[in-house]
Amino acid sequence: MTRRWPAPGHPAILRTSGVRLAALGAAVAAMGAVIVFVVIYYGTLGSLRQTLDASVTNEIGEILPQGTATPSAEAAGAIRAALAEKPFRIFYALAGPNGAALAGNLRLPLPAPGWHTLDAPHAGGFAPGVTELRVLVIRLRDGASLLVGVDGTMIHRLNALIRRSFLIGFGLTLSLGLVAGIGFGRKALARVNAVSLASREIMAGDLSRRIPLAGTGDEFDRLAETVNAMLDRMQHLMENLGAVGNDIAHDLRSPLARLRETLELAQRDPDPAAAGDAIAEAIAQVDGALALCGAILRLAQIETGARRASFSDIDLSDLLDRLVETYETVAEEAGHNLVAHVPRSLSIRGDAQLLNQMFANLIENAMTHAGEAARIALVAVAAAAGVVVRLEDDGPGIAPEQRGAALRRFGRLDPARHRPGYGLGLPLSAAIAELHDAAFTLDAAAPGADRPGLAVTLVFPAGDASRPG
Ligand SMILES: Nc1ncnc2c1ncn2[C@@H]1O[C@H](COP(=O)(O)OP(=O)(O)O)[C@@H](O)[C@H]1O
Ligand SMILES: [Mg+2]
Repeated sequence: MTRRWPAPGHPAILRTSGVRLAALGAAVAAMGAVIVFVVIYYGTLGSLRQTLDASVTNEIGEILPQGTATPSAEAAGAIRAALAEKPFRIFYALAGPNGAALAGNLRLPLPAPGWHTLDAPHAGGFAPGVTELRVLVIRLRDGASLLVGVDGTMIHRLNALIRRSFLIGFGLTLSLGLVAGIGFGRKALARVNAVSLASREIMAGDLSRRIPLAGTGDEFDRLAETVNAMLDRMQHLMENLGAVGNDIAHDLRSPLARLRETLELAQRDPDPAAAGDAIAEAIAQVDGALALCGAILRLAQIETGARRASFSDIDLSDLLDRLVETYETVAEEAGHNLVAHVPRSLSIRGDAQLLNQMFANLIENAMTHAGEAARIALVAVAAAAGVVVRLEDDGPGIAPEQRGAALRRFGRLDPARHRPGYGLGLPLSAAIAELHDAAFTLDAAAPGADRPGLAVTLVFPAGDASRPG
């Protein structure tokens, strides 16, 4: 009952751009055909007619040696002489002032003076094979009328031939153009329909659906590639968003459970002095939970890429120097040794606050996880690939098969579980690196050694020129 318009999957093909383009092309080609037709038609027929007219004028000159002053009797004589010599090549009619025929090989009422094209009055023609005449009629001074004509059948035939050729060519051009246009239109429509179908399935909830590529590398494929890349990114973000909700719920459970336990114990404790301690501990636990929420939210925000809008030119050397200065004393007090080698004026584009946080995370990881009296080295260098920053320690490092787990949210490896932390430092750092288009890799600082240590390498893309804006 309900009328759906336009029916999905069958939009009017005539409205597709392919058909419109083809129609335009066909129209232009048809215009060209018209121009060619006009040029050939008037060029060929015009010059043919000129040739015929010239021979008529010539002949009249011979029949009328004194022009219109020639007496009609003399003209009649000349006509008879000419007819005896070249019968039926040329047509003559001489009529007296009263219309009576005086001489000639044509019997017909003479038209008014001037040029005419005469069609044969009957199927037999004026003579065998002559159906059209090109004639000139002249009035002589003595009142007689002279008609001289030549065979114009050629003009007639040529005229018909040119018209027919034109109509065929014109029709073919138009119809071929339209057929090709409908073909292209259908093809384009099929591609667009595939995109619509995929989009509808995606809207219906299948986020993993992608637009199919034809493999031709044409503009549709390029568009589909771009849209697919966008969908990849969106799917990633959606999954992250879902994961963040889960993570928060999941990871707030244990701090909240601990908090509840603390409060319950305090409630049961009859000693009022213990209440103060319990409250202090509860506050510390709530602070921990808040820090956890903050870290999760920051991670989610970084992964959306929104912070990229606030990117500016950063003096990375300066940033690293200040960071090392801050951590040197902390490291020393904890019994570690932090050394840095950073050349002058390394520059990248980025968000200073996030970069600070990333390097601080990595240095803190080394101080927390590399064991007692760790040696921590920060080295930066400008290479062809870009600005390389490498942070090494001489701790136990992370075994290659565990690096994935360490990079995962809340991923904490066995020996680290009893140390403070939420397992968000590495994923946060990796996300910040990705936001900066920097390659982020974990490997061993001294492969094969007893304590291989961890080396974190960051490669920031080279040069500002490659980045618009
Ligand atoms: N420098 C390092 N040396 C050895 N292990 C490390 C190092 N940095 C990180 N790790 C391991 O990777 C895990 C994840 O690190 P991270 O995400 O920063 O979480 P957290 O530091 O809160 O435990 C750590 O729990 C630890 O097991
Ligand atoms: Mg950490």
